[in-house]
Amino acid sequence: MFDDKKVIFSGMQATGNLTLGNYLGALKNWVKLADEYMTFYCVVDLHSITIRQDPAEFRKRARNLLALYIAAGLDPEKNCIYYQSHNPDHAELGWILDCYTYVGELQRMTQYKDKAAKHADNINAGLLTYPSLMAADILLFQTEYVPVGVDQKQHLELARNLAERFNAIYGDTFVVPDIWLGKTGRKIMSLQEPDKKMSKSDENPNASIYLMDDADTIRRKFKRAVTDSVGVVRYCEEQPGVSNLIDIYCACTDKTTEECEKEFAGLGYGQFKEAVGEAVVGVLQPLHDRFEEIIKDKDYLDKVILENADKSYYYAEKTMRKVRKKIGFPERPRRS
Ligand code: TRP
Repeated sequence: MFDDKKVIFSGMQATGNLTLGNYLGALKNWVKLADEYMTFYCVVDLHSITIRQDPAEFRKRARNLLALYIAAGLDPEKNCIYYQSHNPDHAELGWILDCYTYVGELQRMTQYKDKAAKHADNINAGLLTYPSLMAADILLFQTEYVPVGVDQKQHLELARNLAERFNAIYGDTFVVPDIWLGKTGRKIMSLQEPDKKMSKSDENPNASIYLMDDADTIRRKFKRAVTDSVGVVRYCEEQPGVSNLIDIYCACTDKTTEECEKEFAGLGYGQFKEAVGEAVVGVLQPLHDRFEEIIKDKDYLDKVILENADKSYYYAEKTMRKVRKKIGFPERPRRS
């Protein structure tokens, strides 16, 4: 709890192209939280170097992601939007938590096992300790809720365990965080294989709508979206492709499933898919425009980056002073 508000923290990596799923499932929902909560949204660039990155490309993608947060509607005056690498407390608490995490706990993580299999030539120690750094991100800010996908549940569980473990040794230090699985908004699925999640790493470019796709590409991808032979726009388990399109349409137009079914009753899939494409263009076009404005305004973005880094450090230090003292590190001399 800071300033009488409960804290929300989340982060994304700037690797891969964000998809419509990331926007509708995460970013769009984050925007609504700022009034009620104290919110921190981080570009988790320290995590990204567990996989080799091309320096120039990496720097550009991280800046784009930060600008995209703002373009998506996160007001940087009301939300703390910053780079993880700009606040050294993340790395410091990450190291500290490493010393309270068992290697066995880390080796059990499914994401570690997947990534180790995929990058067998570079199973570095950071890949293993990734989850304790993520726990540090969260615990630094006395976070109550962490909005992330279910794939992050195991990592969240570790963050909870570490908070409890530390608190048991040293007395109350960290808030024990909860995962926030979003009450509304269903998972957005692949346009080509609607039983799979829409993913930024899908090899088939027609399966995902990328946030930076232009209008014609979006229209074309929806035209090619997989449906079925039933021929009715209806939300049901037997029609996963059509149901996914209904979800996308509703999320973009703020209509209900029933309204959507009624609107397209008696009409063919061709017309329906065209309408879904237009609805998505209607949401992404303004996002592109805002993004272009923000990324072009170098002074504005640099100011946001500096101010928010300072803000994140101010709050993180409140926690770190407690942590250092409890562990028994020598008091830091004040610099004059
Ligand atoms: N591991 C998260 C992911 O891949 C990203 C992340 C890093 C994160 N630190 C975090 C998410 C802290 C929430 C809170 O999606």
